[in-house]
Amino acid sequence: MSIINKAAAIGGGVIGAGWVARLLLNGIDVAIFDPDPEASRKVSEVMKGARRAYKQMVPGGLPKEGKLTFAKTIAEAVADADFIQESVPERLDLKHKVLAEIDAHAPANAIVGSSTSGIKPTDMQVAMKKHPERLVVGHPFNPVYLLPLVEIVAGDQTFPEAVEVAKEIYASIGMKPVVIRKEIEAFVGDRLLEAAWREALWLIKDGICTVEELDDIMRYGFGLRWAQMGMFQVYRVAGGEAGMRHFMAQFGPCLKWPWTKLMDVPEFNDELVDLIATQSDDQAYGLSIRELEKIRDDNLVAIMDALSKQNKGKGWGAGALHKDYTRQLAKLAAKKPVASKAAEKAKAGKPVKKAEKPKKKTGKKKG
Ligand SMILES: NC(=O)c1ccc[n+]([C@@H]2O[C@H](COP(=O)([O-])OP(=O)(O)OC[C@H]3O[C@@H](n4cnc5c(N)ncnc54)[C@H](O)[C@@H]3O)[C@@H](O)[C@H]2O)c1
Repeated sequence: MSIINKAAAIGGGVIGAGWVARLLLNGIDVAIFDPDPEASRKVSEVMKGARRAYKQMVPGGLPKEGKLTFAKTIAEAVADADFIQESVPERLDLKHKVLAEIDAHAPANAIVGSSTSGIKPTDMQVAMKKHPERLVVGHPFNPVYLLPLVEIVAGDQTFPEAVEVAKEIYASIGMKPVVIRKEIEAFVGDRLLEAAWREALWLIKDGICTVEELDDIMRYGFGLRWAQMGMFQVYRVAGGEAGMRHFMAQFGPCLKWPWTKLMDVPEFNDELVDLIATQSDDQAYGLSIRELEKIRDDNLVAIMDALSKQNKGKGWGAGALHKDYTRQLAKLAAKKPVASKAAEKAKAGKPVKKAEKPKKKTGKKKG
């Protein structure tokens, strides 16, 4: 049972369509606004892929899908929504324009999540003249319908209660909300990805390895470790019986060695783009993006499924969540109400609008 009655998606590109798919597959009605005349076709392509993946996750049959409607304006899309997810291109002026319009027309207690990859919510909510307190960043990872993580970030004007309700909302559709404790650009996930990306660009540009070799180094090596334990737990184990202290004593001094070019950025010119794009074309072996998406989705479902059987059947990491989520979907398909804590709490929850403003600013961003 979802705590969302009706959702709105503003922007239906790669990420917006992924949100639409997750919501619809949870049985939630969604109104979408996207000015692209191709939006309907693009969303239905993503929906096809998502349906296919979910059928593997819940072989006994999926819940009845929510209804998707294409609105002609933002005002029409958000009019009766209790949850709105903004996924328009990453430009502050556009985010301002769109958020101002959402704010002007959405019900006062609707939560507004922004998919932004790096813009601080404080810088976005200044455009919301009525209820800036209900904006959170809800930063997902592609494909949104499969990857559970959503980073939640509050701005200076965000009420703590909005963060709490957002957490409940995202959790109710099978996600793992992680509240970022302090607002910074690019949050945590994209900070890490940016660091790896900068280093990777150097390694290709300097001819140390090709695009394919770099990906092999990740997917045959530490990428497998990261998917199940992350960075710190993996390094704890790598320290042997003495754990993290030994690991740090051994590798700490490397921080001073010239191992990284992190603070320098290779010149982003046509030459670099051509080099990377050509090697990426070779690596694809003629597979289209849609074909690669299918492979990616099958692999992700298989990985999460395998992890769901670990830890004496309780599941480990994303696998434990996957186990609960697939059960929730199966119950929803059988029309059995899911006694989720999130749903009960949200039922009793007060509208964000009525939340008391915290006295201390520092208390606002706590997860
Ligand atoms: N692509 C990723 O991997 C990724 C991951 C996480 C977050 N994000 C974030 O998600 C957001 C969207 O990124 P994307 O990759 O989906 O971009 P995209 O270009 O694929 O999609 C953006 C969509 O917004 C639509 N749009 C443009 N103006 C609009 C308006 N005024 N109202 C409504 N829709 C409008 C476009 O027509 C397009 O369909 C960005 O903030 C981005 O940083 C992207």
